[in-house]
Amino acid sequence: MGPLASRDVFSWLLVASVLQVSSVRLAQASYLCTAYLNISYTHPETNRTTWYQEEMGLYGQDSPKASVVGNVYLADPIYGCEEDTVYSRPNDSRGWIALIQRGSGCTFSDKINVAAMNGAAAAIIFNDFGAENRVIQMSHPGTSIVAVMIGNYRGMELVQLRVKGVPVSIAIEVGKQHGPWMSHYSVFFVSISFFIVTAATVGYFIFYSARRLTGLRQQNRKQKKLKAEAKKAIGQLQVRTLRQGDQETGPDADTCAVCIELYKAGDVLSVLTCNHFFHRSCIEPWLLEHRTCPMCKCDILKALGVEVSFHTRTVCRPRHIQKTSIRRYKAL
Ligand SMILES: *[C@@H]1O[C@H](CO)[C@@H](O)[C@H](O)[C@H]1NC(C)=O
Ligand SMILES: [Zn+2]
Ligand SMILES: [Zn+2]
Repeated sequence: MGPLASRDVFSWLLVASVLQVSSVRLAQASYLCTAYLNISYTHPETNRTTWYQEEMGLYGQDSPKASVVGNVYLADPIYGCEEDTVYSRPNDSRGWIALIQRGSGCTFSDKINVAAMNGAAAAIIFNDFGAENRVIQMSHPGTSIVAVMIGNYRGMELVQLRVKGVPVSIAIEVGKQHGPWMSHYSVFFVSISFFIVTAATVGYFIFYSARRLTGLRQQNRKQKKLKAEAKKAIGQLQVRTLRQGDQETGPDADTCAVCIELYKAGDVLSVLTCNHFFHRSCIEPWLLEHRTCPMCKCDILKALGVEVSFHTRTVCRPRHIQKTSIRRYKAL
């Protein structure tokens, strides 16, 4: 694989995994959990207990998604921001629920932690005036108790009951997980795309390796064929054994270009098609590998008419070499 291609693939993988991680984060952030509130109280006039249950609340982002049952007590002041906020409740009350209004410049975490400090098992925060019954998903890091937001109207009803001195009990229950179709959809989508990118990468690697392997095998076969052809061509080369008194021996003897030794009587020479000659034992291994004359680069396969389709070297005819240490073989 080229360096560019592999870099591309890896950057794609990186992008895909970053996308996946961030979309999981997104999914967690946008995961909404509603709360059923079963509100029950005793009518002060009729002395009859009524209750109604509605999916009216929304768990805060950092709240345990758990059920809580308890009597409701108001924060005083109602915003519940200050550490000296009072919750008027019997001393022995346990598992009670704080009712707090949103706003007044402190964070949800502040309100919830003040309520928890006073012993509340849960905090119900009702929305600002003007919000009617709309709710938002609160973000309140650093808190540990259950925190639920309800609409402004619902909250005000509860406040009025409590202000009249009516005991109110609320059971908070985990409702439905809303909006997950959206986040699950994006997780699904990104997972699918991640899978596709991964599969494509793996596929590409496999394809590439297979192609490379085939290429290597082909090259191997080609090499073997070339060697066989070279062997055939070498068999057709002229061979000559030098004798005492031959021109190539003697005082101004030539050297073999391969081993750089002087020719002497008894040496066996191979004469190439270009008329260059060398020791037979020197040139044959060379020709097996290169199939060209080391002096003039002419192709002995072509010169001898051995058909090699994938070979494009120039055909050399016997020719004269002017200024070389090797003289033309005159016997031809
Ligand atoms: C709501 O609370 C009342 C009183 O505690 C109880 O009688 C009633 O069964 C509860 N309703 C639901 C649906 O749980
Ligand atoms: Zn030699
Ligand atoms: Zn040559």
